[in-house]
Amino acid sequence: MNTYSKKVAVEQFGRRSNAYAACGTLMDQTDLDTVVGLLDLKGNETVLDVATGTGYLAMALAPHVKRVIGIDITPGMLELAVQAEGERDLDNIDNMVGDVEHLPFCDSGFDVVSARFSFHHFPSPMVSLSEMARVLKPGGRLVIEDMVASEDLAKSEYQNIMENLRDPSHIKHYRASELERMLRGAGLEVGNRGGEGSVFDLEHWLEMAEPPERDAERIREMMRASMDGDLSGLNVRAEDGRVVFTYATAIVVGIKHQSD
Ligand SMILES: C[S@@+](CC[C@H](N)C(=O)[O-])C[C@H]1O[C@@H](n2cnc3c(N)ncnc32)[C@H](O)[C@@H]1O
Repeated sequence: MNTYSKKVAVEQFGRRSNAYAACGTLMDQTDLDTVVGLLDLKGNETVLDVATGTGYLAMALAPHVKRVIGIDITPGMLELAVQAEGERDLDNIDNMVGDVEHLPFCDSGFDVVSARFSFHHFPSPMVSLSEMARVLKPGGRLVIEDMVASEDLAKSEYQNIMENLRDPSHIKHYRASELERMLRGAGLEVGNRGGEGSVFDLEHWLEMAEPPERDAERIREMMRASMDGDLSGLNVRAEDGRVVFTYATAIVVGIKHQSD
C-alpha cells in the first residue's frame, strides 16, 4: 500500500507541480513568518525540510539559519524549488530526492526538521514521525504545519472523502488533537503552537489537483450539501457567486527529549 501511495504522490505532484508552485496558501508570507517565528531560531541551525515541494518554507527559513536541506519524493517539485532558490540568490539550500520514511541521514544530525502542508500525504504517519524524530538532535525541534479536520468525527470523515476524490495522493487530514497525540507517541514534547484558517475558492482548489470531471462533480455536490449544517466542518458558503470554504490549519512544534 505504501509503495503504491508514494507512486501516486509522485505522479500527482509531478503532473501538477506548476499549479502547486502558484498556490497562494503555500506562498503566504504571513503564514511562513509564523512558522519561522515559532522556532525561536538563533542563526546557527541546520534544518531538514521534509517534503519541501517547490521550496517555500525552505526559502523562508534559509535567511535565519546556517543551512537547509530540502528533501522531496517528487523530482518535478524539486526542479521548481531549485529554480526559485536560484532566482532569490539563496546559496545555503541543498535539495535531494527522497522519502520521509527512509531519510538518508544518520541519527541526531539536525537542529530543526520541518514538514509543511505534507503530513496528510504520508502513508504511515507514525513511521514518518519516528524517522523525522530520529534525525533530530536531542533538544531539536520538529515543526509540522498542516490542514486539520474537524474534531467532530463525522465531519472529519466527510471532509476526507472529498479530499481523496480530489487528490488520490491524499491519505488523511488529521484532527489537531490527533496530530499532537501522534507527536507525543513519537517521543516528542509538544511546545509552541499556531495556525489559523485559509480561505479557498472551490473551483480554484479543484483546478489545482485536476481530478477527473466525474469526481469533481461529486465533490461539488458534497460541498453544496455541506452548506446546511456544516457537514464537512469547512464552513462551505456562497460568496459573490462563488463557493468558498475555510481550511483550519495547525502548526505544532515537537521537541526531542534531551536524554533520547
Ligand atoms: C503541498 S507540497 C509541500 C509544500 C512545501 N512543504 C511548502 O512549504 O511549500 C506536498 C509535497 O509532499 C511531497 N511528498 C509526498 N509524499 C512524500 C514522501 N513520502 N516523502 C517525501 N515527500 C513527499 C510531494 O512530493 C509534494 O512535493
